[in-house]
Amino acid sequence: MSLIAQSLSELPIIAQQIIDFAGNNRIFLFYGDMGAGKTTLIKSLCSVLGSKDNITSPTFAIVNEYIAAQGKIYHFDFYRLKNQNEALDLGSDEYFYSGNYCFIEWPEKIPDILPANYVKIAIKVMPDNSRQISLDKI
Ligand SMILES: Nc1ncnc2c1ncn2[C@@H]1O[C@H](COP(=O)(O)OP(=O)(O)OP(=O)(O)O)[C@@H](O)[C@H]1O
Ligand SMILES: [Mg+2]
Repeated sequence: MSLIAQSLSELPIIAQQIIDFAGNNRIFLFYGDMGAGKTTLIKSLCSVLGSKDNITSPTFAIVNEYIAAQGKIYHFDFYRLKNQNEALDLGSDEYFYSGNYCFIEWPEKIPDILPANYVKIAIKVMPDNSRQISLDKI
């Protein structure tokens, strides 16, 4: 499935469509260049899931934890990861298989330890600054 976000104001509706598309799937991988809008979309998704927490990119911690209506949300940003062992050491498997929502930025950094099943979200910046958001179930 592919969606277009013409502006930030459309993200709440798109986030709801993504949650509906995912069904029982709670692991989401976000692909897209720097500044494509991964963190921004994750904020909207957290809002749809009922989290009132302050959603910021977990640049220093690698993983942030938020509380939502249905339970916890784990937000990863692997951009600064030095190697895949660093992710294993911080307990990536325990997070991924916890049954809680996991939103993962820069999954390219952990190609060999990705979870078995996930929703793949690819964000592309279009020439008019809108975002093309492609969804696939893996
Ligand atoms: N759908 C959208 N329409 C217009 N602007 C957007 C949209 N989504 C995000 N932006 C803008 O793009 C900028 C960068 O967004 P964001 O920080 O979410 O990118 P990112 O993909 O998480 O980047 P990084 O790889 O550095 O983590 C922000 O200024 C944000 O407002
Ligand atoms: Mg980000």
